[in-house]
Amino acid sequence: MTQYILALDQGTTSSRAIVFDRQGNILALAQKEFQQIFPQSGWVEHDADEIWAAQIGVANEALARIGIAASDIAAIGITNQRETTIVWDRNTGRPIHNAIVWQDRRTAGLADALKAAGHEPLFQHKTGLVIDAYFSGTKLKWLLDHVPGARAKADRGELAFGTVDSWLIWKLTNGALHITDVTNACRTLLYNLHTHDWDDELLTLLDIPRSLLPDVHRSSEVYGHTAAGLLGAQIPIAGIAGDQQAATFGQAALQSGMVKNTYGTGCFMLLNTGEKPIPSQHKLLTTVAWKVNDRTNYALEGSVFVAGAVVQWLRDGLGIIKRSEEVEALANSVPDNDGVYFVPAFVGLGAPYWDSYARGTIVGLSRGSTAAHIARAALESIAYQTADVIDAMRQDSQLSLPELRVDGGASRNDLLMQFQADILGVPVVRPKVTETTALGAAYLAGLAVGYWQDEAEILQLWQMDKRFEPCISPDRREMLRHAWRQAVSQARQPSQ
Ligand code: G3P
Repeated sequence: MTQYILALDQGTTSSRAIVFDRQGNILALAQKEFQQIFPQSGWVEHDADEIWAAQIGVANEALARIGIAASDIAAIGITNQRETTIVWDRNTGRPIHNAIVWQDRRTAGLADALKAAGHEPLFQHKTGLVIDAYFSGTKLKWLLDHVPGARAKADRGELAFGTVDSWLIWKLTNGALHITDVTNACRTLLYNLHTHDWDDELLTLLDIPRSLLPDVHRSSEVYGHTAAGLLGAQIPIAGIAGDQQAATFGQAALQSGMVKNTYGTGCFMLLNTGEKPIPSQHKLLTTVAWKVNDRTNYALEGSVFVAGAVVQWLRDGLGIIKRSEEVEALANSVPDNDGVYFVPAFVGLGAPYWDSYARGTIVGLSRGSTAAHIARAALESIAYQTADVIDAMRQDSQLSLPELRVDGGASRNDLLMQFQADILGVPVVRPKVTETTALGAAYLAGLAVGYWQDEAEILQLWQMDKRFEPCISPDRREMLRHAWRQAVSQARQPSQ
């Protein structure tokens, strides 16, 4: 009987379910957006129950769309927005608070205090991360400290913490499994990359009881089965990875030195560094790329918080476009940025600056500046931020980085991809399937159940759509990047 793989891709703004066949083709896709909750400036929350309802809804919808039975699904792979923090009651299965989303800055003060107390080298050495409100650890502490009764319940072992993967698996198995995978665990500030376990010293510093934490598994193995009655059959759950790591796998960036950039809400660039974690000297993150069989692959990551979100701001904040797709034509209606630079530091700056206090800045406006120049500068900012990250990667890894594989929504924008190649001086390569996040989760699940044999088979399935070659001179590139760096320094506080 023909079988398929179902990927559940739980992202920041929508839950998706995609059915893949053996060639990695998409047979069905269902997607549902859910509410973004902004209780205060800098705070971002999701309703964990709504995430679950959307996810199980699209899973059923995707199967129904092509009329296949759940028993035709060989395995489910799960991939998720990372760092987003959920705590629920083990007895009732109810979340004790909304999920605190990765973008949320409410714990910036706590992160500052940990840094001021001199803890950054310890966290960096053990977890590969910088201390920042981005990661789950400070968010989890905030929940225990602020939700009435939470700490007492946690001390009694009545609460469970999870990133979104753990939450979905808890729900998919009716509370039978409280697990995560190593790619998600290593985004918490609590997981030790060297001992491959939660770290008691870090747990003590953040005052988090170990009893809250899920068991950590590989990214590809049969963890359990979906509960009867949910999807029409008990399907093996066989792959888990954070969305950026899954995208790296889906891009078949399986060999050391291969690098991918996903252009979504933010931009996340991962460089496969092979089987040893490389500590960063340039404020990148050292992270697990995946653990398949008993081999752990590591990556260096540059996380840029605002990329595609700048286009949403042109639409919703500034109102100079009605639909996001219009940005390419507007930006293309002028030959260049005419000296206008836009640093979209709406929630501070991520890698390689890690400046929570930087704010969005547009510089170089003249009487001749138009909406088109601002649109162009906004698109270009995505490429400049990526170039800043790639510089740090080159310095950390001492690798030459022969090409950049791209995916995500904005990778469909040819103007941006050409500018990206120009400003990097490195060819940019776009694959045919740009749903690489879901595809990566499907591959991880499929490998665990023998649907795909090995990584060599996956390498064969990757296909190129278009390659963008750099075509500006090194002098011009340096001139443009110099102007960008000046704009960045204006977006940052003088004291930083
Ligand atoms: O680290 C945050 C990242 O995983 C979010 O990705 O695609 O949901 O915006 P995305």
